[in-house]
Amino acid sequence: MNEKIGQAIARLDGPLKVTGKARYSAEFPFEKMAYAVLVGSKISAGKISAIDTSKAKSIPGVIAVVTHENCPKLGSPGSFMTGAASSESRLPLQDNVIRYAEQYVAMIVAESLEVAQHAANYIIISYERHNPVIEPSNQHAIRYEPGENLGSQVAKSRGNAEEAFQKAAVKLDNKYSTECQNHNPMETHSVITKWEGEKLTVYDSSQYPAGVRTALSQMFAIEEKDIRVVSQFVGGAFGGKGNMWQQVPLCAIAAKVSGRPCKIMLERKQMFTNVGRRSGTQQRLAIGASKDGILEAIIHEGESETSIEDEFVEQFTISTPMLYACPNVTVKQQLVRTNRIFPTFMRAPGEATGVWVLESAMDELAHKLGMDPVDLRMKNYATSDPESGLPFSSKSLDKCYKLGAERINWSKRNPEPGKQIENGMLVGIGMASATRGVKHFDGSVGVSLKADGKFVFRSSTPEQGTGSITIFSQIAADCLKVPIKQILTELGDTDFPRAPVAAGSATVTTIGNAFWQASKKLQDELSRLLVESKSSPFFGASQSDIKFREGFLTCISKPAVKLSYSDAVQALNKQSVDVRYDTHFRSSKKEYSSHGFGAHFAEVRVDPELGLLRVSRVVSTVTCGRVINEQTCKAQVKGAVIWGISMALMESTFADIRSGRIMNCNLAEYHIPVNADIDEIEVHIVEEEDKHIGPLGAKGVGELGITGVPAAIANAIFNATGKRIRKLPITVDKLMV
Ligand code: MOS
Repeated sequence: MNEKIGQAIARLDGPLKVTGKARYSAEFPFEKMAYAVLVGSKISAGKISAIDTSKAKSIPGVIAVVTHENCPKLGSPGSFMTGAASSESRLPLQDNVIRYAEQYVAMIVAESLEVAQHAANYIIISYERHNPVIEPSNQHAIRYEPGENLGSQVAKSRGNAEEAFQKAAVKLDNKYSTECQNHNPMETHSVITKWEGEKLTVYDSSQYPAGVRTALSQMFAIEEKDIRVVSQFVGGAFGGKGNMWQQVPLCAIAAKVSGRPCKIMLERKQMFTNVGRRSGTQQRLAIGASKDGILEAIIHEGESETSIEDEFVEQFTISTPMLYACPNVTVKQQLVRTNRIFPTFMRAPGEATGVWVLESAMDELAHKLGMDPVDLRMKNYATSDPESGLPFSSKSLDKCYKLGAERINWSKRNPEPGKQIENGMLVGIGMASATRGVKHFDGSVGVSLKADGKFVFRSSTPEQGTGSITIFSQIAADCLKVPIKQILTELGDTDFPRAPVAAGSATVTTIGNAFWQASKKLQDELSRLLVESKSSPFFGASQSDIKFREGFLTCISKPAVKLSYSDAVQALNKQSVDVRYDTHFRSSKKEYSSHGFGAHFAEVRVDPELGLLRVSRVVSTVTCGRVINEQTCKAQVKGAVIWGISMALMESTFADIRSGRIMNCNLAEYHIPVNADIDEIEVHIVEEEDKHIGPLGAKGVGELGITGVPAAIANAIFNATGKRIRKLPITVDKLMV
């Protein structure tokens, strides 16, 4: 029996990881490695008026000190949308302007990490201080309406939401907020660079090796063919490693000035100060309905932070026009410029912060109407996309509500808040919908069938811990009808065919589909060669006569012959048969609206006196098209639910509003859950057949699971306590008042 799509196959890279054989970027050993340490600015707005590096340079073991006064000039990379993994447009150490606290102002390159760290204390800087804008509420903050976000419009409107809201029989109009969060994968951003003449090799912890190569080629004015970026295994990324941050070009400069391979691994502190984050949001949601619960108007607006120079929209209104059938909807977002680092993608950017608000408001509305929250959602169920008018390629959200409600025993819930007490704790149950749009990028996969019958698949997309190697191999094994051990999947190297950023839950929809298509294309090429090649036993047959069986090939017109894949290559007198498949999703016409959906049901237990809270149970039901691997799929959702709990209850990055410096830039004071914080999480998948989203019918799932979790928890807290909290995270102090 060969491995099929859908089976819960354990990770193929598991043994490599638990035995320490999987190499992460910082682990590639080189002789005479130099180490670079990056020194950050103590102010968050202003200029460097003088910088004295003489003491640092004189320390034994220091090879070079680079500042804006002696840094080689860098070219500007293209935008993210044009294929460069670019981030901040202001490039490092190119001038004396300071835009945020800890912005790099100097780089020490030394023979050891310890010497570099020591020397970093001896850079003496005088600043010209300006007043920074740290909080969006600062009266000097610049606000504006962005035209678009990564190529799509931010503001949308249908019907007349203002008028319909005013006329609605039942209304709610509330403010909500979410805090700035930082990615904290176990592996901090790490990079090793090595020059050989004009050729550059980079080992980088990146979701987008091909984009790093493009950006570096533009910055250093060298051809892409002279750069190789390796990013085989990434120790967690979550969007934070989708862009290339400044340590990468700086490491290339360090390697150049030292003439040695050079390594930079960010300190945990720098994960909060020098790479992107999820911006905080301030949101307003106004919702109006008829007395029997028909939605009549939704207005969703507000603002998020961006940096002084660049634009990133945390697009929290993205799901609002689509999720419910409502004739009058207006969404609109503003940006506020602050002296903080450029924000970026963080798991379900937009949906995670926005669905929390819409789904909190739906719960409030249900309560006000005296309706069951699930019934209210079903009453306004959208059977086609109300925003685009397009049919859904598939939608099984109704089944998710039903299954989740059964599993959590929803029918036993007391809708009246504060009524259920067990062992002195207030118990509550809440629910929320989850949704996330299906994305397809364009990418390529190469496959080589070797003479020993092994299929070697290659693509530059990395394995960032999600299970890519496993599911790709599974897709290929299923399509080719061979055992999975006959498939070798090699990822994360720009010497392989180009893949897009491994983000947007689009790796299965892009590269997964390309694995399927490349397998088909290989079969096509192989059968063509077998009928055209004189040395082949199938020579002269019709190509359509060749049949791919479980592990071997036959030919209808030559019934006596049975070829293994190895026989087939050898019969052609070749070392290998090679093809490459490039997807073209982006240029295809959009005829369907495609989204993953789900429903989260959370149970909380709150100490009525102390406000202490536990999420004692979560039941999550998701629907994401065809499931490629049940185990990795459920693991993705479970991880996302844990992050949803974390977002609901714990995570918040605090900046000092006077200095702009981050006050909790460590894992002691920036709270994320540990095992002891997490109780029971039950994940169910409602499988669906979707014929419109590519040959696999898979939608991608990585980000779906986090959306809605904070709302399910806030709604459960309301059910337990009668307290409606509209600001995340919901910490004890908010529950005590
Ligand atoms: Mo994800 S935030 O698109 O890596």
